[in-house]
Amino acid sequence: MDPLTDSSALTLRRAVTTDSVRLADLTKRFFPYIHLSADHVFERIKNGIVYFVLARDDEVLGFIDFELNAEPNPRHATAEKPPLSSPKTAKILGLCVVPELQGQGWGKKLLAAALGEAKDIGCTQAVMLVEESNAKAIRIYEQAGFQRHGKLVQKLWDKDVLMFVRLL
Ligand SMILES: CC(C)(COP(=O)(O)OP(=O)(O)OC[C@H]1O[C@@H](n2cnc3c(N)ncnc32)[C@H](O)[C@@H]1OP(=O)(O)O)[C@@H](O)C(=O)NCCC(=O)NCCS
Repeated sequence: MDPLTDSSALTLRRAVTTDSVRLADLTKRFFPYIHLSADHVFERIKNGIVYFVLARDDEVLGFIDFELNAEPNPRHATAEKPPLSSPKTAKILGLCVVPELQGQGWGKKLLAAALGEAKDIGCTQAVMLVEESNAKAIRIYEQAGFQRHGKLVQKLWDKDVLMFVRLL
């Protein structure tokens, strides 16, 4: 069996700081417009940004991360609604799975793990920004109960971005 597609040894777990290099590599691969070095990822994990990883031993094959937003973020103003305000919002930052393992439910499992953790730590809603053209990701969020909140007034990284929200 191809070791890359063999799902038998895959686990979904919280990231640890020793995952930083691999997380930075994946970030660069899937979100090249986000410039996050391994040192930055290390600091983010230490500072409480929650990462869940899809891993085989110490190899990282996917991740989701979120941070807590205490204040409304003015950049989250959409054409339809003002910025969200909530004392505890989980802002999901990135979600990715390596192509060899896509379509096997790992993206949904990572999302479910992040939402479960966000709820456990007292978040009342989750927010997700996604490129308008990313139909596959949008489908996952909608299936997970996210609703379209609107399109960001300002482009992000020069892209049209939609905001999705889900109560927890
Ligand atoms: C978005 C992403 C994380 C989804 O991961 P995944 O592990 O493939 O997701 P799942 O296997 O849980 O499947 C999710 C849905 O996508 C569908 N899907 C899988 N592969 C697909 C493909 N090649 N084309 C279209 N839909 C596909 C699945 O059928 C499933 O929907 P269904 O349950 O209704 O059938 C992954 O595609 C990815 O890493 N993309 C690049 C990074 C990205 O765009 N991230 C999102 C923005 S933050």
